[in-house]
Amino acid sequence: MDSQRRVVSGMRPVGRLHLGQYLGVLKSWVRLQHEYDCYFCIADWHALIGYPEQAATVADDALEMAIDWLAAGVSPSSAVLFIQSQVPEHAELHLLLSALCPAPWLERMPVYRETHAERHEQGADSYGFLGYPLLQAADILLYRAGVVPVGADQLPNLELARDVARRFNHLFGREADFEARAEAAILKLGKKTSRLYNSLRKAYQEQGDLEALNTARALLMEQSTITLGDQERLWGYLEGGGRVILPEPRPLLGETPRITGLDGGRMAEAAGNAIYLRDTPQQIEDKIIHMPTDPARVRREDPGEPTRCPVWSLHQVNSDEAVCRWAEQGCRSAGIGCLECKGALVDAIRTELAPLQERAEDYEQNPDLVRSILGEGAERARDEARETLAEVRRAMGLHYR
Ligand code: TRP
Ligand code: SF4
Repeated sequence: MDSQRRVVSGMRPVGRLHLGQYLGVLKSWVRLQHEYDCYFCIADWHALIGYPEQAATVADDALEMAIDWLAAGVSPSSAVLFIQSQVPEHAELHLLLSALCPAPWLERMPVYRETHAERHEQGADSYGFLGYPLLQAADILLYRAGVVPVGADQLPNLELARDVARRFNHLFGREADFEARAEAAILKLGKKTSRLYNSLRKAYQEQGDLEALNTARALLMEQSTITLGDQERLWGYLEGGGRVILPEPRPLLGETPRITGLDGGRMAEAAGNAIYLRDTPQQIEDKIIHMPTDPARVRREDPGEPTRCPVWSLHQVNSDEAVCRWAEQGCRSAGIGCLECKGALVDAIRTELAPLQERAEDYEQNPDLVRSILGEGAERARDEARETLAEVRRAMGLHYR
Protein backbone atom coordinates (compact mmCIF):
# COMPACT_ATOMS: atom_id res chain seq x y z
CA MET A 1 0.00 0.00 0.00
CA ASP A 2 1.41 3.38 -0.99
CA SER A 3 0.19 5.99 1.46
CA GLN A 4 1.27 8.78 -0.86
CA ARG A 5 -1.36 7.57 -3.29
CA ARG A 6 -4.10 7.36 -0.72
CA VAL A 7 -6.57 10.12 0.05
CA VAL A 8 -9.04 10.40 2.91
CA SER A 9 -11.43 13.24 3.53
CA GLY A 10 -14.75 13.75 5.21
CA MET A 11 -17.58 16.13 6.02
CA ARG A 12 -20.10 16.37 8.82
CA PRO A 13 -23.63 15.75 7.51
CA VAL A 14 -25.47 18.77 8.85
CA GLY A 15 -27.55 19.94 5.89
CA ARG A 16 -27.33 20.59 2.19
CA LEU A 17 -23.98 21.42 0.63
CA HIS A 18 -23.42 24.91 -0.68
CA LEU A 19 -21.40 26.43 -3.47
CA GLY A 20 -18.54 27.29 -1.14
CA GLN A 21 -18.06 23.66 -0.17
CA TYR A 22 -18.39 22.59 -3.78
CA LEU A 23 -15.82 25.01 -5.17
CA GLY A 24 -13.53 24.83 -2.16
CA VAL A 25 -13.38 21.08 -1.52
CA LEU A 26 -15.68 18.81 -3.53
CA LYS A 27 -14.31 19.82 -6.91
CA SER A 28 -10.86 18.81 -5.80
CA TRP A 29 -12.18 15.44 -4.59
CA VAL A 30 -13.65 14.84 -8.01
CA ARG A 31 -10.30 15.55 -9.60
CA LEU A 32 -8.35 13.47 -7.09
CA GLN A 33 -10.49 10.37 -7.39
CA HIS A 34 -8.98 9.56 -10.78
CA GLU A 35 -5.39 9.77 -9.56
CA TYR A 36 -5.61 8.52 -6.01
CA ASP A 37 -7.13 5.76 -4.02
CA CYS A 38 -9.85 7.85 -2.34
CA TYR A 39 -11.94 7.27 0.80
CA PHE A 40 -14.65 9.83 1.50
CA CYS A 41 -16.28 9.66 4.90
CA ILE A 42 -19.69 10.99 5.91
CA ALA A 43 -18.75 11.84 9.47
CA ASP A 44 -22.06 11.27 11.25
CA TRP A 45 -20.44 10.74 14.65
CA HIS A 46 -18.72 14.08 14.24
CA ALA A 47 -22.09 15.66 13.44
CA LEU A 48 -23.53 14.44 16.72
CA ILE A 49 -20.60 15.40 18.91
CA GLY A 50 -21.51 18.53 20.81
CA TYR A 51 -24.81 18.84 18.96
CA PRO A 52 -27.26 16.28 20.37
CA GLU A 53 -30.16 17.93 18.55
CA GLN A 54 -28.68 16.61 15.29
CA ALA A 55 -29.99 13.17 16.25
CA ALA A 56 -33.34 14.15 14.75
CA THR A 57 -31.92 14.65 11.27
CA VAL A 58 -28.50 13.01 11.06
CA ALA A 59 -29.62 9.90 9.15
CA ASP A 60 -31.46 11.94 6.51
CA ASP A 61 -28.60 14.41 6.33
CA ALA A 62 -26.13 11.60 5.73
CA LEU A 63 -28.16 10.32 2.79
CA GLU A 64 -28.58 13.83 1.39
CA MET A 65 -24.86 14.42 1.73
CA ALA A 66 -24.17 11.30 -0.30
CA ILE A 67 -26.55 12.61 -2.98
CA ASP A 68 -24.75 15.96 -3.04
CA TRP A 69 -21.39 14.22 -3.40
CA LEU A 70 -22.63 11.95 -6.17
CA ALA A 71 -24.25 14.91 -7.91
CA ALA A 72 -20.98 16.82 -7.74
CA GLY A 73 -19.30 13.99 -9.60
CA VAL A 74 -17.82 11.81 -6.88
CA SER A 75 -18.06 8.39 -8.45
CA PRO A 76 -18.54 5.13 -6.58
CA SER A 77 -16.51 3.33 -9.20
CA SER A 78 -13.49 5.54 -8.53
CA ALA A 79 -13.82 6.36 -4.83
CA VAL A 80 -15.08 4.70 -1.67
CA LEU A 81 -18.01 6.62 -0.14
CA PHE A 82 -19.14 5.52 3.28
CA ILE A 83 -20.82 6.52 6.51
CA GLN A 84 -18.44 6.68 9.46
CA SER A 85 -20.70 4.90 11.96
CA GLN A 86 -21.04 1.96 9.54
CA VAL A 87 -17.32 1.35 9.96
CA PRO A 88 -17.02 0.80 13.73
CA GLU A 89 -13.25 0.34 13.35
CA HIS A 90 -13.04 4.15 13.51
CA ALA A 91 -14.18 3.96 17.12
CA GLU A 92 -11.66 1.32 18.08
CA LEU A 93 -8.75 3.22 16.59
CA HIS A 94 -9.98 6.40 18.28
CA LEU A 95 -9.97 4.60 21.61
CA LEU A 96 -6.51 3.14 21.10
CA LEU A 97 -5.12 6.52 20.05
CA SER A 98 -6.69 8.13 23.12
CA ALA A 99 -4.23 6.11 25.17
CA LEU A 100 -1.30 8.02 23.73
CA CYS A 101 -2.73 11.44 22.88
CA PRO A 102 -1.87 13.91 25.66
CA ALA A 103 -5.01 15.73 26.86
CA PRO A 104 -3.30 19.15 26.56
CA TRP A 105 -2.87 18.59 22.80
CA LEU A 106 -6.66 18.56 22.59
CA GLU A 107 -7.31 21.23 25.17
CA ARG A 108 -5.31 23.75 23.21
CA MET A 109 -7.07 23.16 19.87
CA PRO A 110 -8.45 26.54 18.71
CA VAL A 111 -12.01 25.36 18.00
CA TYR A 112 -12.23 23.67 21.37
CA ARG A 113 -11.02 26.73 23.23
CA GLU A 114 -13.31 29.14 21.42
CA THR A 115 -16.42 27.00 21.45
CA HIS A 116 -15.87 25.91 24.97
CA ALA A 117 -15.79 29.49 26.12
CA GLU A 118 -18.98 30.32 24.21
CA ARG A 119 -21.27 27.39 24.87
CA HIS A 120 -20.83 26.07 28.33
CA GLU A 121 -24.26 24.61 28.79
CA GLN A 122 -24.50 22.56 25.58
CA GLY A 123 -22.46 19.56 24.42
CA ALA A 124 -19.31 21.65 24.10
CA ASP A 125 -18.14 20.54 27.51
CA SER A 126 -18.45 16.86 26.62
CA TYR A 127 -15.57 14.43 26.55
CA GLY A 128 -16.43 13.70 22.91
CA PHE A 129 -16.14 17.33 21.94
CA LEU A 130 -12.67 17.51 23.40
CA GLY A 131 -11.80 14.37 21.46
CA TYR A 132 -13.33 15.53 18.15
CA PRO A 133 -9.95 16.10 16.45
CA LEU A 134 -8.66 12.76 17.69
CA LEU A 135 -11.64 10.97 16.14
CA GLN A 136 -10.80 12.80 12.94
CA ALA A 137 -7.19 11.65 13.24
CA ALA A 138 -8.52 8.10 13.54
CA ASP A 139 -10.63 8.62 10.39
CA ILE A 140 -7.47 9.45 8.48
CA LEU A 141 -4.90 7.13 10.06
CA LEU A 142 -7.22 4.14 9.79
CA TYR A 143 -6.64 4.20 6.03
CA ARG A 144 -2.97 5.16 6.28
CA ALA A 145 -3.67 8.07 3.98
CA GLY A 146 -0.85 10.38 3.01
CA VAL A 147 -3.02 13.11 1.54
CA VAL A 148 -6.06 14.87 3.01
CA PRO A 149 -7.86 17.46 0.85
CA VAL A 150 -9.56 19.91 3.21
CA GLY A 151 -10.36 23.57 3.72
CA ALA A 152 -7.95 25.81 5.59
CA ASP A 153 -10.09 25.63 8.75
CA GLN A 154 -9.05 21.99 9.12
CA LEU A 155 -5.30 22.60 9.28
CA PRO A 156 -5.03 22.40 13.09
CA ASN A 157 -6.83 19.04 13.02
CA LEU A 158 -4.42 17.76 10.40
CA GLU A 159 -1.50 18.90 12.49
CA LEU A 160 -2.88 16.91 15.40
CA ALA A 161 -3.26 13.82 13.22
CA ARG A 162 0.41 14.11 12.25
CA ASP A 163 1.52 14.57 15.84
CA VAL A 164 -0.51 11.56 16.96
CA ALA A 165 0.85 9.39 14.13
CA ARG A 166 4.40 10.38 14.94
CA ARG A 167 3.89 9.64 18.61
CA PHE A 168 2.28 6.31 17.84
CA ASN A 169 5.20 5.25 15.65
CA HIS A 170 7.66 6.47 18.21
CA LEU A 171 6.02 4.56 21.06
CA PHE A 172 4.89 1.41 19.29
CA GLY A 173 7.05 1.19 16.20
CA ARG A 174 10.07 0.57 18.38
CA GLU A 175 11.45 -2.90 18.70
CA ALA A 176 14.23 -3.92 21.06
CA ASP A 177 16.33 -5.08 18.15
CA PHE A 178 15.11 -2.51 15.65
CA GLU A 179 18.53 -1.60 14.34
CA ALA A 180 19.57 -5.18 13.77
CA ARG A 181 16.31 -6.00 12.04
CA ALA A 182 16.59 -2.94 9.82
CA GLU A 183 20.14 -3.87 8.84
CA ALA A 184 18.99 -7.42 8.08
CA ALA A 185 16.17 -6.02 5.95
CA ILE A 186 18.64 -3.93 3.98
CA LEU A 187 20.53 -7.06 3.02
CA LYS A 188 17.32 -8.57 1.70
CA LEU A 189 17.05 -5.76 -0.84
CA GLY A 190 19.84 -7.24 -2.92
CA LYS A 191 23.27 -5.83 -3.48
CA LYS A 192 22.55 -2.96 -5.83
CA THR A 193 19.41 -1.74 -4.09
CA SER A 194 20.93 -1.94 -0.61
CA ARG A 195 23.85 0.16 -1.72
CA LEU A 196 21.48 2.74 -3.15
CA TYR A 197 19.31 2.69 -0.02
CA ASN A 198 22.34 3.20 2.21
CA SER A 199 23.66 6.11 0.23
CA LEU A 200 20.26 7.83 0.07
CA ARG A 201 19.80 7.31 3.81
CA LYS A 202 23.19 8.79 4.47
CA ALA A 203 22.49 11.78 2.22
CA TYR A 204 19.30 12.46 4.13
CA GLN A 205 20.68 11.90 7.61
CA GLU A 206 23.95 13.72 7.12
CA GLN A 207 22.90 16.52 4.78
CA GLY A 208 19.15 16.67 5.34
CA ASP A 209 18.68 15.99 1.62
CA LEU A 210 14.89 15.74 1.27
CA GLU A 211 15.11 14.66 -2.32
CA ALA A 212 17.18 11.68 -1.24
CA LEU A 213 14.55 10.86 1.40
CA ASN A 214 11.80 10.88 -1.21
CA THR A 215 13.83 8.85 -3.66
CA ALA A 216 14.55 6.28 -0.97
CA ARG A 217 10.84 6.08 -0.10
CA ALA A 218 9.96 5.58 -3.75
CA LEU A 219 12.62 2.91 -3.94
CA LEU A 220 11.05 1.11 -0.99
CA MET A 221 7.60 1.26 -2.53
CA GLU A 222 8.94 -0.58 -5.57
CA GLN A 223 10.28 -3.50 -3.56
CA SER A 224 7.88 -6.38 -3.87
CA THR A 225 10.16 -9.04 -2.44
CA ILE A 226 10.40 -7.76 1.14
CA THR A 227 7.63 -8.12 3.75
CA LEU A 228 5.40 -5.25 4.82
CA GLY A 229 7.10 -5.31 8.23
CA ASP A 230 10.53 -4.89 6.66
CA GLN A 231 9.22 -2.14 4.45
CA GLU A 232 7.92 -0.25 7.51
CA ARG A 233 11.27 -0.79 9.26
CA LEU A 234 13.29 0.51 6.34
CA TRP A 235 10.92 3.42 5.96
CA GLY A 236 11.37 4.33 9.62
CA TYR A 237 15.11 3.63 9.52
CA LEU A 238 15.55 6.38 6.92
CA GLU A 239 14.69 8.93 9.57
CA GLY A 240 16.20 7.09 12.46
CA GLY A 241 13.23 6.05 14.65
CA GLY A 242 11.27 2.82 14.51
CA ARG A 243 8.80 1.25 12.10
CA VAL A 244 6.29 3.56 10.47
CA ILE A 245 2.98 1.88 11.17
CA LEU A 246 0.81 4.98 10.78
CA PRO A 247 2.18 7.33 8.10
CA GLU A 248 1.83 11.06 8.71
CA PRO A 249 -0.86 12.63 6.51
CA ARG A 250 -0.38 15.98 4.84
CA PRO A 251 -3.16 18.44 4.03
CA LEU A 252 -3.97 19.41 0.47
CA LEU A 253 -5.65 22.80 0.31
CA GLY A 254 -8.29 23.54 -2.32
CA GLU A 255 -7.56 26.15 -4.98
CA THR A 256 -10.42 28.39 -3.94
CA PRO A 257 -10.11 28.42 -0.17
CA ARG A 258 -12.54 31.20 0.63
CA ILE A 259 -15.88 31.75 -1.05
CA THR A 260 -17.77 34.93 -0.38
CA GLY A 261 -21.36 34.55 0.72
CA LEU A 262 -24.41 36.52 -0.35
CA ASP A 263 -23.81 39.17 2.31
CA GLY A 264 -20.11 39.66 1.61
CA GLY A 265 -19.00 37.53 4.56
CA ARG A 266 -17.73 33.98 4.21
CA MET A 267 -20.24 31.61 2.63
CA ALA A 268 -21.52 29.45 5.45
CA GLU A 269 -24.63 27.55 6.24
CA ALA A 270 -25.25 29.04 9.64
CA ALA A 271 -25.05 32.59 8.35
CA GLY A 272 -27.94 31.98 5.92
CA ASN A 273 -25.92 33.47 3.09
CA ALA A 274 -25.28 30.42 0.99
CA ILE A 275 -26.30 29.18 -2.44
CA TYR A 276 -26.97 25.48 -2.22
CA LEU A 277 -26.04 22.98 -4.91
CA ARG A 278 -29.66 21.97 -5.19
CA ASP A 279 -31.20 25.44 -5.14
CA THR A 280 -33.68 25.81 -8.01
CA PRO A 281 -32.91 28.29 -10.81
CA GLN A 282 -35.56 30.56 -9.27
CA GLN A 283 -33.97 30.39 -5.81
CA ILE A 284 -30.58 31.18 -7.29
CA GLU A 285 -31.97 34.20 -9.06
CA ASP A 286 -33.81 35.46 -5.95
CA LYS A 287 -30.71 35.14 -3.81
CA ILE A 288 -28.42 36.93 -6.26
CA ILE A 289 -30.88 39.69 -7.04
CA HIS A 290 -31.13 40.56 -3.35
CA MET A 291 -27.39 40.71 -2.79
CA PRO A 292 -25.93 44.01 -1.66
CA THR A 293 -23.59 45.77 -4.11
CA ASP A 294 -21.02 48.55 -3.87
CA PRO A 295 -22.92 51.21 -1.89
CA ALA A 296 -21.29 53.90 -4.03
CA ARG A 297 -23.53 52.90 -6.94
CA VAL A 298 -26.66 54.66 -5.80
CA ARG A 299 -27.84 55.45 -9.33
CA ARG A 300 -27.20 53.65 -12.58
CA GLU A 301 -24.80 56.42 -13.71
CA ASP A 302 -22.60 56.17 -10.59
CA PRO A 303 -19.39 54.22 -11.25
CA GLY A 304 -18.60 51.43 -8.79
CA GLU A 305 -15.63 49.57 -7.40
CA PRO A 306 -15.93 45.80 -7.87
CA THR A 307 -13.55 45.00 -5.02
CA ARG A 308 -16.13 46.45 -2.64
CA CYS A 309 -18.91 44.24 -4.02
CA PRO A 310 -19.73 40.63 -3.06
CA VAL A 311 -21.34 40.06 -6.48
CA TRP A 312 -17.93 40.61 -8.01
CA SER A 313 -16.32 38.10 -5.63
CA LEU A 314 -18.78 35.49 -6.83
CA HIS A 315 -18.14 36.39 -10.47
CA GLN A 316 -14.47 35.70 -9.93
CA VAL A 317 -15.05 32.11 -8.88
CA ASN A 318 -18.04 31.31 -11.11
CA SER A 319 -17.80 33.30 -14.35
CA ASP A 320 -15.37 32.91 -17.20
CA GLU A 321 -12.68 35.49 -17.83
CA ALA A 322 -14.54 37.42 -20.50
CA VAL A 323 -17.55 37.93 -18.24
CA CYS A 324 -15.31 38.93 -15.35
CA ARG A 325 -13.59 41.55 -17.47
CA TRP A 326 -16.92 42.80 -18.77
CA ALA A 327 -18.27 43.16 -15.21
CA GLU A 328 -15.14 44.78 -13.85
CA GLN A 329 -14.89 47.36 -16.61
CA GLY A 330 -18.62 47.94 -16.86
CA CYS A 331 -18.81 48.56 -13.13
CA ARG A 332 -15.95 51.05 -13.01
CA SER A 333 -17.20 52.95 -16.06
CA ALA A 334 -20.86 52.70 -15.12
CA GLY A 335 -21.24 50.99 -18.49
CA ILE A 336 -23.47 48.31 -17.02
CA GLY A 337 -26.05 48.34 -14.27
CA CYS A 338 -26.00 46.11 -11.22
CA LEU A 339 -29.02 44.18 -12.43
CA GLU A 340 -27.24 43.26 -15.66
CA CYS A 341 -24.15 42.35 -13.73
CA LYS A 342 -26.15 40.12 -11.39
CA GLY A 343 -28.00 38.56 -14.32
CA ALA A 344 -24.70 37.38 -15.78
CA LEU A 345 -23.76 35.85 -12.44
CA VAL A 346 -27.11 34.07 -12.20
CA ASP A 347 -26.45 32.57 -15.63
CA ALA A 348 -22.95 31.46 -14.70
CA ILE A 349 -24.07 29.74 -11.51
CA ARG A 350 -27.06 28.08 -13.15
CA THR A 351 -24.84 26.76 -15.91
CA GLU A 352 -22.31 25.44 -13.42
CA LEU A 353 -24.98 23.72 -11.33
CA ALA A 354 -27.28 22.40 -14.05
CA PRO A 355 -25.48 19.10 -14.67
CA LEU A 356 -25.14 18.51 -10.91
CA GLN A 357 -28.82 19.08 -10.39
CA GLU A 358 -29.71 16.66 -13.11
CA ARG A 359 -27.62 13.95 -11.49
CA ALA A 360 -29.02 14.79 -8.06
CA GLU A 361 -32.53 14.27 -9.36
CA ASP A 362 -31.67 10.78 -10.59
CA TYR A 363 -30.38 9.82 -7.15
CA GLU A 364 -33.26 11.51 -5.31
CA GLN A 365 -35.61 9.28 -7.23
CA ASN A 366 -33.60 6.23 -6.35
CA PRO A 367 -32.64 6.36 -2.65
CA ASP A 368 -32.10 2.60 -2.58
CA LEU A 369 -29.28 3.00 -5.07
CA VAL A 370 -27.66 5.57 -2.78
CA ARG A 371 -28.04 3.23 0.19
CA SER A 372 -26.44 0.39 -1.69
CA ILE A 373 -23.53 2.58 -2.78
CA LEU A 374 -22.97 3.50 0.87
CA GLY A 375 -23.34 -0.11 2.01
CA GLU A 376 -20.79 -1.28 -0.48
CA GLY A 377 -18.51 1.62 0.44
CA ALA A 378 -18.67 0.63 4.10
CA GLU A 379 -17.65 -2.93 3.21
CA ARG A 380 -14.68 -1.78 1.19
CA ALA A 381 -13.65 0.68 3.89
CA ARG A 382 -13.90 -2.02 6.56
CA ASP A 383 -11.64 -4.37 4.64
CA GLU A 384 -8.95 -1.72 4.63
CA ALA A 385 -9.63 -0.60 8.20
CA ARG A 386 -9.35 -4.13 9.57
CA GLU A 387 -5.87 -4.49 8.13
CA THR A 388 -4.63 -1.33 9.78
CA LEU A 389 -6.23 -2.25 13.07
CA ALA A 390 -4.61 -5.66 13.04
CA GLU A 391 -1.22 -3.93 12.74
CA VAL A 392 -2.07 -1.40 15.41
CA ARG A 393 -3.30 -4.04 17.85
CA ARG A 394 -0.20 -6.13 17.32
CA ALA A 395 2.09 -3.13 17.78
CA MET A 396 0.29 -2.29 21.01
CA GLY A 397 0.73 -5.78 22.33
CA LEU A 398 -2.89 -6.83 21.85
CA HIS A 399 -2.26 -10.15 20.23
CA TYR A 400 -4.15 -13.07 21.70
CA ARG A 401 -4.06 -16.56 20.42
N1 TRP B 1 -13.90 17.87 10.80
C1 TRP B 1 -14.17 17.90 9.40
C2 TRP B 1 -15.03 19.12 9.10
O1 TRP B 1 -15.66 19.65 9.97
C3 TRP B 1 -14.90 16.67 8.92
C4 TRP B 1 -14.08 15.43 8.99
C5 TRP B 1 -14.34 14.34 9.75
C6 TRP B 1 -12.92 15.11 8.23
N2 TRP B 1 -13.44 13.37 9.54
C7 TRP B 1 -12.54 13.79 8.62
C8 TRP B 1 -12.16 15.81 7.29
C9 TRP B 1 -11.40 13.20 8.08
C10 TRP B 1 -11.03 15.19 6.75
C11 TRP B 1 -10.65 13.90 7.16
O2 TRP B 1 -15.10 19.52 7.96
FE1 SF4 C 1 -21.27 44.96 -7.95
FE2 SF4 C 1 -21.58 44.40 -10.49
FE3 SF4 C 1 -22.92 46.41 -9.39
FE4 SF4 C 1 -20.34 46.62 -9.78
S1 SF4 C 1 -21.90 46.41 -11.34
S2 SF4 C 1 -21.43 47.14 -7.92
S3 SF4 C 1 -19.65 44.52 -9.44
S4 SF4 C 1 -23.15 44.25 -8.91
